[in-house]
Amino acid sequence: MAADPKALKIAAARAALDYVQDGMKLGLGTGSTAEEFVRLLAEKVAGGLKVVGVPTSVRTEELARSLGIPLATLDDEPSLDLTVDGADEIGPHLALIKGGGGALLREKIVAAASSRMIVIADESKVVETLGAFPLPIEVNPFGLKATVLAIEHIGRQFGLTGEIRLRMKDGKPFVTDGGHFIVDASFGRIPATKAFADELNMIPGVVEHGLFIGLASLAIVAGEGGVRVIDG
Ligand code: 5RP
Repeated sequence: MAADPKALKIAAARAALDYVQDGMKLGLGTGSTAEEFVRLLAEKVAGGLKVVGVPTSVRTEELARSLGIPLATLDDEPSLDLTVDGADEIGPHLALIKGGGGALLREKIVAAASSRMIVIADESKVVETLGAFPLPIEVNPFGLKATVLAIEHIGRQFGLTGEIRLRMKDGKPFVTDGGHFIVDASFGRIPATKAFADELNMIPGVVEHGLFIGLASLAIVAGEGGVRVIDG
């Protein structure tokens, strides 16, 4: 019988707790797997663990607050010990696609401010090549069409073509916590290279993209056979 996806998320999240120590400043990721970590962390906090959490989204902030985890902003605590977050895809060398939940900008800022980032996921997220999951790109609403044309242009420079679609929610463009839109680029494959990442970031209308290179230190992946650690 196939393993229950929720049970796998909980297993990965539970294993990540082993890396949490008293007194740590923690980045709290976004998404269903990260939320399992927040729930388990809250149990530890209720048991006396002293940590402070910096959430990567309003959604995570509301959950963590409701569960009694002490919170701070990244301005209060600009250097974090550890961030625990999910991912949409985990590729070779722990290159990631993130942003399926629309929180990639804050997730990347928080991960970059952390000494370590641990990714938690089920085995289905581990891939040989990134890009079956469309790359989320956070864009300024101003000049959306010009930004999409520029993304297409960069894509062609890297031999990539495919649909770039504005993410919608309830019939309207999805708006991020930062007030931006997201376009999802279905290139089929995403080069996990700094050159590609940097070129996307050079487009003025691009706020940030969901290709995370060199940020994750470790991935904890749960499958039917148990939990394994992938080291960068
Ligand atoms: C949100 C993210 C999430 O970490 C990613 O979408 C994975 O989510 P889930 O754990 O629900 O599969 O990047 O922006």
